[in-house]
Amino acid sequence: MLWTARLCLLFFVSSLGVPVDRYSTKGHQKLLLISFDGFRWDYDRDVDTPNLDTMAKDGVKARYVTPPFLTITSPTHFTLLTGRYIENHGVIHNMWFNISTGEKQPYYATQFKNEWWDNGSLPIWITAQRQGLRTGSLHFPGTQPSYQGESQTVKDVEPRFYNYKNETKWRENVDKVMDTWFGEMDLDFVSLYFGEPDSTGHKYGPDSPERREMVKQVDRTVGYIRSSAERNGLTDSLNIIITADHGMSNVYRNGLVKEIILSKIPGFSFSDIAFHLVDFGPSGMLLPRKGMLDTVYKALKGAHPHLHVFKKEEMPKRLHFANNNRILPIILFSDPGYVINGFFPVQTHKGEHGFDNVEMDMKPFFRAVGPAFQKNLEVGPFETVNIYPLMCHILGIKPEPNDGHLDVTKHMLVSATEGHPKDFKSNIFVGLAAVAGFLVVVFIVLVSFHVFKKKTNYTGSEKSVPPESKEETHQTPL
Ligand SMILES: *[C@@H]1O[C@H](CO)[C@@H](O)[C@H](O)[C@H]1NC(C)=O
Ligand SMILES: *[C@@H]1O[C@H](CO)[C@@H](O)[C@H](O)[C@H]1NC(C)=O
Ligand SMILES: *[C@@H]1O[C@H](CO)[C@@H](O)[C@H](O)[C@H]1NC(C)=O
Ligand SMILES: [Zn+2]
Repeated sequence: MLWTARLCLLFFVSSLGVPVDRYSTKGHQKLLLISFDGFRWDYDRDVDTPNLDTMAKDGVKARYVTPPFLTITSPTHFTLLTGRYIENHGVIHNMWFNISTGEKQPYYATQFKNEWWDNGSLPIWITAQRQGLRTGSLHFPGTQPSYQGESQTVKDVEPRFYNYKNETKWRENVDKVMDTWFGEMDLDFVSLYFGEPDSTGHKYGPDSPERREMVKQVDRTVGYIRSSAERNGLTDSLNIIITADHGMSNVYRNGLVKEIILSKIPGFSFSDIAFHLVDFGPSGMLLPRKGMLDTVYKALKGAHPHLHVFKKEEMPKRLHFANNNRILPIILFSDPGYVINGFFPVQTHKGEHGFDNVEMDMKPFFRAVGPAFQKNLEVGPFETVNIYPLMCHILGIKPEPNDGHLDVTKHMLVSATEGHPKDFKSNIFVGLAAVAGFLVVVFIVLVSFHVFKKKTNYTGSEKSVPPESKEETHQTPL
């Protein structure tokens, strides 16, 4: 009886502690988030990709994923890091700009504009660190700024003039992340960025042999990453998610199509525009001068069959690109094949992104492997806002408010609960369940004890009958 009660007590006490947190069950899980910029969902179809194929067998492959609109680099990467649509996280463009001064800063300089990134949404690095984890980021857009005054444990921002396609450099970066950051420093979460196949896709087009060669380089790198994980003994603890920010689509010009040139549109004049962001591919934004909004809008709307023109407030809700003060009053985007030119055609890219996110050419790939994921599973498409809650779940951290849902991605996981952390509420629930269970056990023990006692009294045996008082003392901890 004493033994039973002690056991119950032990069970009860342990259930009030933290027996179900991630440190006491399986050892917690690490996560590496990798982005290969501009890797379209179907880039593995016309190239041999043995390492990506092996990864799909060992893990999960989504048919494709849907990025948020605008389908451009910094905004879509920040959605991966926050799980929020672009209008909700505020990094609405690759460019930093100031409408009062007319100043614009390109992509690289914008990486150093703290206030552009730190606009009220916390990226997963900071959330993870506030909950006791340690994180790192290498070249991922948004790595440099601090957020509410906090930064990753380690970060590496590429130098100003960086060769984004140097495979030797890629391997050095992988070594840094795998050997030093995960291996020696034992970090929990790292984001890692590669600038390809985006650049090659822009320069030569998505259907070019150059793009196919670059996909082979990505594939070799995936093999290198996975063997590095193995070499560092990380296979059982490290999850790897590989995805991208957007896809890539062919652009036509030089007489092949009727190009979109704003200055040539009747009734439209740049003298009616106070500030603009055009000549950046298929999307643009305009701030008309005071009182000129309707004039500008009427001139542009319907002016070209492949140019879409919206006032901010009439943007389709599904694009989630309106409800933010940084977004300018008129939003433009073109159909695939076309880019938006201001005064005359200055763009030379054969491939572009920034189109509507319903376009199949804008969809990135998604692969995942590791102890949290099922094996040899192909899943249907989902929006990339849902990657954030998935990552938080794997890391065992409580997410910030976001636009994603774990329900959308949890079927990719080995188990929704096994080896994963419970939040505080479920700890309490487990604790209460244990208490209830204990009470039932005590009740049964007491009842059977009394029955037994009656029986033994009846038969006159005095063995194994503890004094009544002792029984009571063992109940007091309840
Ligand atoms: C834009 O520049 C003006 C003038 O320097 C400044 O007052 C304003 O705060 C700036 N706005 C932003 C959003 O940086
Ligand atoms: C976000 O940036 C805008 C200026 O672009 C500023 O007015 C606003 O206060 C910022 N919000 C936060 C929460 O930082
Ligand atoms: C690639 O990077 C390696 C290692 O940093 C360097 O030694 C090499 O010169 C680079 N090659 C090119 C073509 O930039
Ligand atoms: Zn690009």
